[in-house]
This record gives sequence, structure tokens and C-alpha cells, in this order.
Amino acid sequence: MKKILRMCLLTVLSLTFLASCSNDDKATDLGENEKELIGIILPTKDEPRWLQDEEKFKELISKTDYRVEIMFSQGSSAIEKQNIENLITKEADIIIITAHDGTVAAAAVEEAKAAGIRVIAYDRLVTDTDAVDYYVTFDSVSVGEAQGNYLIEQAGDRTGLPLYLYAGAASDNNAFLFFEGAWNVLQPKIEDGTFVIVNSSEAKKLREKLKLSREEQSQIIGQVTTNWDFDEAKKKAEAHLTNAKTDEKGEVFILAPNDGTARSIADVFNADAEITNLHITGQDAELPSIQYIMQGKQSMSVFKDVRILANDTINLAVDILSGKDVNVTKLYNNGVIDVLSITTDVQIITKDSVEEILIDTGYYTEEEVGL
Ligand code: BGC
Repeated sequence: MKKILRMCLLTVLSLTFLASCSNDDKATDLGENEKELIGIILPTKDEPRWLQDEEKFKELISKTDYRVEIMFSQGSSAIEKQNIENLITKEADIIIITAHDGTVAAAAVEEAKAAGIRVIAYDRLVTDTDAVDYYVTFDSVSVGEAQGNYLIEQAGDRTGLPLYLYAGAASDNNAFLFFEGAWNVLQPKIEDGTFVIVNSSEAKKLREKLKLSREEQSQIIGQVTTNWDFDEAKKKAEAHLTNAKTDEKGEVFILAPNDGTARSIADVFNADAEITNLHITGQDAELPSIQYIMQGKQSMSVFKDVRILANDTINLAVDILSGKDVNVTKLYNNGVIDVLSITTDVQIITKDSVEEILIDTGYYTEEEVGL
């Protein structure tokens, strides 16, 4: 190690290289168990999205002086609670959590806080508690707006177009934000007759109202939720098509909340002989969906660059743990307190922008996406 350090000092190399040498040196000088522990809890291994976050976190933390333990809750608040308690026992110094259910997670997060652990909500907010220190997220309302605007562009100046609505899990605060964004732009186009809602009587009832209360959103989401579950999305889409009248088929417009559910819904619609053309949204730029987009089976996705999100989160965690001033000023209300937040913008992906946004920046390779 000393030899490496000497080499670093003697060799006239870039400052970056010097920095990385000294970091490595520090990391190895500490015994594995002496390093402070960053605990990360992600919601499920069943969606490519969260595996990408996991990989990025591992890569980033390997370049720091910290240890990491990454746990998955597999769509269960009970497992999530155990994960948090496990990290408390292991004396984690900070917990980064994407809650399965933002409200239910509050109690376990409070236990962590009481044990002196700092808490960062990652992508999904933990609500109704004062135990969250920071929130690092994408601009979720703009995700829904991007999806809605895409459908509006495809509609052009036609009228009477069948619109199918789907939403995320009601236990995830983001599902409301995505829906709010989509409704912001779609509602005027529903009211003016461009689109005709097919599959939600609650949305039909509220078609003339732009700003919906949480309760009103819940009524619509309650009818069209996918629960972030591929199977539930498939079954709902099948039932909707079975009940659809002839003029609710043909060319259709589908608001699908994310890529996993979009692929399930698209498979059902693409298999129906009476569907002649479909426009379907997504989110996350998951590899299987980018392949679907290249093959014309899904229309678009909203790219949320997890490289940026994970990087911002780890930088924040490192600053907190090393006692540096944290320069975050934006606030996000979680029902009880205003949580200090970092928000990242999103980008729209269609067949035409895959190369520039995903390949040229190294997110995927040409071979992977099938270009
Ligand atoms: C995330 C999405 C993800 C969804 C389902 C949301 O909270 O923001 O990126 O697709 O959960 O896991």
C-alpha cells in the first residue's frame, strides 16, 4: 500500500487519479467492521428498475470509505420493518429507504430515528412522520405530464379517441404524483372531447375538474391501479378489453404508469385483433421496455437516470456522515414536516431518442437494445 501511495505521489498524474488513490488507501486502512455502515432498503427485486439502483449504489459505495448493506423488502411492509430493525441492530449510521408503503413505513423509520440513525427517503417519500431527514427524488409530477403530453401529441386534432387509464400502487405517494401530472395535461383534452375515457367511471365523473383532491384521485386510482404488479396490470387490461365496445377499440391511447406494467398491458392490447394501433406510455427506461420501444410494442418511456439519483444520494450520505455542511434548501411536505429535498429532472424516450439519450451516454449498449 505504501508503495502505491509513493507511486501516486511521485507520478505526475491528474488530480482525479491522486484523489482516487488516496481514497482507496483510506478505505483499505480501515478494518472492514470499523467502517461506518450505510444501509439501503429497496422495494423489490422483481423490477429491473430497482436492480439498476442496487448496482449503481454498490459501484458508488465501493469508491468511499463506507460499508454498505443492501436489502430488499419484496413488496412487504413486514419484511421492510425487519430490514430496518436489522440495520438498527447492526448500528447502521444512515438508512436510505425506498418504502414499499410510504405511510406504513413511518413507524419503523421512527424506530431508526430514535436509535440515532439518519434517514434519507430515496425516490419514494415516507409520509406522515417527522423522522425523515432528506428526500432525494425525480420530479414525479413531470413524469405524469410527459406521459400525458405524449398521448396528446399522438392525438393531434382528432376527437373521440378511446383513452385507457392505469395507475401505480395507492400505497406509493409517487403514484398520486404521476397521476396528478398526467391529469393536469389530459383533463382539458378529455373535457374538450379529444379523448373519451373507457375504463374508469370515477374518472368519467370527474372529467370536468382539473384540480382533484387526494380523495378524488384515490377514487380513480382505486379503480385503475396496477398495484405496480405485472399480473394485476395484465388482468385489469384483459377485463377492460372484454368489456370494451367496438368504438372503444381500433386506435387506442393508454396511460400506463411505468414500464413493467406497460409491457403487461401492451401484450394484452397487442394480442387483440380489434386493436389496430396503440399508443402506450411507460417510465423508467427499463431495458426490456427499450427493446419493446425498438420493436414498436411500447411507444415511449420516461427516463429517470438512476446514475444521477444514486450519485446525489451517496454524496448526500457521505456529506452528512463526514459532518460537512449539506447545501439542500428545497422543501417537500410529507404531511407532517417539510423534508429537505433534492429533485432531478426526467427525459422522454421514444424510438428516435434512444440512441442519443441512452446509448451515447453509456446507459445501454447498441447490442442490448437491439439497435
Ligand atoms: C418509482 C418508479 C417505479 C415504481 C414501481 C415508483 O415509486 O418512482 O420508478 O416504476 O415505483 O416500482
